[in-house]
Amino acid sequence: MAKQKMNIAVLCSGSGTNLQAIIDSVKSGYVPAKLAFVVSDNKNAFALTRAARAGIDTLILNPKDFKTREALDKEIIKNLKKKNVELVVLAGFMRLMSPYFIKEYKNRIMNIHPALLPSFKGTHGIKDALEYGVKVTGPTVHFVDEKLDHGPIILQRCVEVKDDDTEKSLVERMHEEEHKIYPEAIKLFSEGRLKIEGRRVRIL
Ligand code: GRF
Repeated sequence: MAKQKMNIAVLCSGSGTNLQAIIDSVKSGYVPAKLAFVVSDNKNAFALTRAARAGIDTLILNPKDFKTREALDKEIIKNLKKKNVELVVLAGFMRLMSPYFIKEYKNRIMNIHPALLPSFKGTHGIKDALEYGVKVTGPTVHFVDEKLDHGPIILQRCVEVKDDDTEKSLVERMHEEEHKIYPEAIKLFSEGRLKIEGRRVRIL
């Protein structure tokens, strides 16, 4: 009997270009998983339109309806568990996860950051790297732990910074690489090929 595919959920707050790359790679069979759920904390996120077009169930939550971050996370977790989600993928989700969330999905939450961690953590990874004057930057896919942009690194890719780069042109080239490495990391996880050893992630 064929092995059952792993259920994954993607959490987004914005345009969802990474979500689209993940949808496409699940559809093509490159990522052997099922996209069970898209969750957003922003009802206007274009990511929700992408999910609807692909026929994926969505959950929209307004953070203002919850007294604490943990209360919101509890509601998300309740829904993820109902759908037997095994991997949580953060793709432009503009909220910090509570320790409760991290504990419930320990080593099963991934994030993508638009800089070579541990450099340029935070919400302006591309702008900060450009302003600092680095010659090379690039996206990082990592597991999520209790600290911001900190968990074990799964994949990184280099993007060269050109002399005439603007934030916009660099965002475009960053996205091109993000759209390759995020599906790749999810594929590896779905195939059970990522082994966390302390801070290091071994690819089996
Ligand atoms: C990406 O640049 C990602 O690195 C960061 O948020 C952005 C999300 O973009 N975490 P999109 O919504 O996937 O287009």
